[in-house]
Amino acid sequence: MALARVAGLVAASPVAAAVAQIDPRPLGEHRRVLSLAEVQTAFDFEPVFHGNVILPVYDYTAHGDGSEFTLRRNRQAFDWVDILPSRAAIPASQVDLSSELLGLKMKFPIIVAPTAAMVPLHPDGEIGMFKAATAASNTLMILSTNTSTPVAQVAPASPGGTLWAQFYPLQSLAATQQWMDTYQNAGAGGVIVTIDQQASYYERTQQDRNFGGRVARTAGPGAGAGSGTAVLTGAARYRINSGRLWYTWQYIDAVRKMVKGPLLIKGILDPQDAGMAIDHGADAIIVSNHGGRSMDYGPSSLEVLPEIVAAVNGRIPILFDSGIRRGTDIFKALALGANGVMIGRTARWGLAAFGTAGAQRLIEMLQQELVQVSAAAGCAKLSDIGKKAVKANFV
Ligand code: FNR
Ligand code: LAC
Repeated sequence: MALARVAGLVAASPVAAAVAQIDPRPLGEHRRVLSLAEVQTAFDFEPVFHGNVILPVYDYTAHGDGSEFTLRRNRQAFDWVDILPSRAAIPASQVDLSSELLGLKMKFPIIVAPTAAMVPLHPDGEIGMFKAATAASNTLMILSTNTSTPVAQVAPASPGGTLWAQFYPLQSLAATQQWMDTYQNAGAGGVIVTIDQQASYYERTQQDRNFGGRVARTAGPGAGAGSGTAVLTGAARYRINSGRLWYTWQYIDAVRKMVKGPLLIKGILDPQDAGMAIDHGADAIIVSNHGGRSMDYGPSSLEVLPEIVAAVNGRIPILFDSGIRRGTDIFKALALGANGVMIGRTARWGLAAFGTAGAQRLIEMLQQELVQVSAAAGCAKLSDIGKKAVKANFV
């Protein structure tokens, strides 16, 4: 009652009129942030997320490796692809983008990418993300091995949903088997093995970005044993993660035998590696540069997608991630040959801004944007979204 009165006063005041412009963005410059009912695009969620959490939590999601050239290039690459105007636009109601991926029926070719530590983003955490994905037309969610909620709690939390799990190679085969048992017994139907360098860190925040705000100190108070914080020494201090540099395709052969369902290899940026992944039993690959968090000055995922599509030549499905923020981005990746896309940061923005309901809204927004652009481009079904729909102007 009291609040309603205040709202009425504010609406009538000249101050409100002064800010009520046609496009009030950028939101970061305003004290009032949008409510869930007001968000219009994925970009609207990010400043709400920024306002909700302490800075290291925001930084951990936002940043990329080194000077962040690849992070920026991931986004710019989408600007370099034109969607060709169609003379045969169709009503959105005629668009059906359903497909089947490795036996899984999908209403939209959009998947929640594995990203670490969601509880620091919002108390709903991984369980909230899984519920959101399921509520948004049964979207597949891939749980990160760096989950902040155990898989045994996440998997049963959303009946009817589909959860696959992401894995980082472990040097011990016994430990690898144990991981597979834990995740597969808990209900993870598919396993994604990430083979890229993974998250060498944004320099400025490397001391304090350890999975959502826990401070990793190299010196001073809080450093060392007993403090509960990691101590970065040697090469690791300079962002070289030696824990990731030992594995081989023979290791993937051993993993293949442990995976009961689909095995996907994530982090492919090169046609030759795509061929190796197929030779070593991958059921699908994910073209990804880890959202610009792996190796700075590498190419954007979108630029290398066409040559990988050509090399794979339909033998296995190709998923794509790195830089997806809008339905048009998804359309472009599909047109350049991806069978589906994964969303990393955008899904986190949704959860961190408004919890489960926000993540659901965000996924549905992307689904609907994809339907709209498909209709405008005259594509009634997924297989209509092909090379002819776009022109890539990569240099
Ligand atoms: C990631 N990503 C990631 N990948 C993975 O295989 N295991 C992981 O634990 C994580 N963790 C993670 C945390 C955060 C904060 C981000 C932003 C990303 C990479 C992720 O799966 C995906 O490849 C990228 O997020 C795609 O780029 P966009 O969509 O964020 O631009
Ligand atoms: C990251 C790791 C966890 O991107 O994959 O932060």
